[in-house]
Amino acid sequence: MPMKPKILTTLELPSNALEKLKEYFIVEGGPDLIKDRVNLLNSLKDKVGLLTAPHIKVDKELFEHAPNLMVVSTYSVGYDHIDVTEATRRGIYVCYTPGVLSDCVAEVTWGLILSTYKRISEAERIVRARKWVKGIYKEPLGRDLKGKTLGIIGLGRIGRRVAEIGRCFGMNVIYYDIVKPSDADKLDFQYCDLETLLKNADVVSVHVPLQKETYHLIDESKLRLMKRDAIIVNTSRGAVIDEKALIKALKEGWIMGAGLDVFETEPLPLDSELLDMENVVLSPHRGSASIETRTAMLNLAINNLISVLKGEIPPALLNSDVVKVRPLNQTKVI
Ligand code: DGY
Repeated sequence: MPMKPKILTTLELPSNALEKLKEYFIVEGGPDLIKDRVNLLNSLKDKVGLLTAPHIKVDKELFEHAPNLMVVSTYSVGYDHIDVTEATRRGIYVCYTPGVLSDCVAEVTWGLILSTYKRISEAERIVRARKWVKGIYKEPLGRDLKGKTLGIIGLGRIGRRVAEIGRCFGMNVIYYDIVKPSDADKLDFQYCDLETLLKNADVVSVHVPLQKETYHLIDESKLRLMKRDAIIVNTSRGAVIDEKALIKALKEGWIMGAGLDVFETEPLPLDSELLDMENVVLSPHRGSASIETRTAMLNLAINNLISVLKGEIPPALLNSDVVKVRPLNQTKVI
């Protein structure tokens, strides 16, 4: 019997996922590879597929160690960790997990908005510190959402869902995007430029992917445009906001607060000033962290990988141009 092709994973896979992959492949690797780049690179030599996530850089160096690689399947919708241009040039298919996590990330975004604007985390810390005293509770007072303006930066799948939920709270929704959506005229939400959005929104929520155009999109000059009683929430990628400038804004009171699920460096460095700031709600990059969503993401990532290696169009291919470099009949190994 011919030997099965080999794939590498950096994920800790549940047994049912591993069993499914083992029907077709010899599966090597695991989460320890995240901490050991040399071992990761050396493990790629004989692998046709890589199942991974944003916890590693999938760059030119990695591709150079992987002469047989035909598909990278990431267990994420974000792909800023992957050099997609280089992958395409080398005929490597790049697949991701759009759609299946939009509702979950939107719900977590709302968790952060509510916690920050209503100051729920701050209040909880008072209770836990045994400082809740008898009387009418005054501090910290939050703000009401009804009638306020929600400013969405990036009206993709997740941004749209956050916007829809904002409507249920009775908010007026405005949005900005790097490229104005083609259906902008049909939408119920008002498009505006970034400066107008920042000057008018009470709640700013960031949903653009990290790319050259969005790196530090929200810098000091942009933060200075925001209202003093506004908050900013980020569940996309940390580097879309200049974190140093944000810390300054929060310390000096240019804005009321921030709800952050993502950071420029993750895990958040132990000396980050954000850790000691009362007006910040912190969450460890868990926008998609629900049982249902993580299951759907993993299934999609696995189906993507298997499809490419069966020579079939995967459900979520990022670099469709790759077929010109390596047609699908050349990726069929199972
Ligand atoms: C995603 O899917 O991109 C999430 O942010 C997890 O990294």
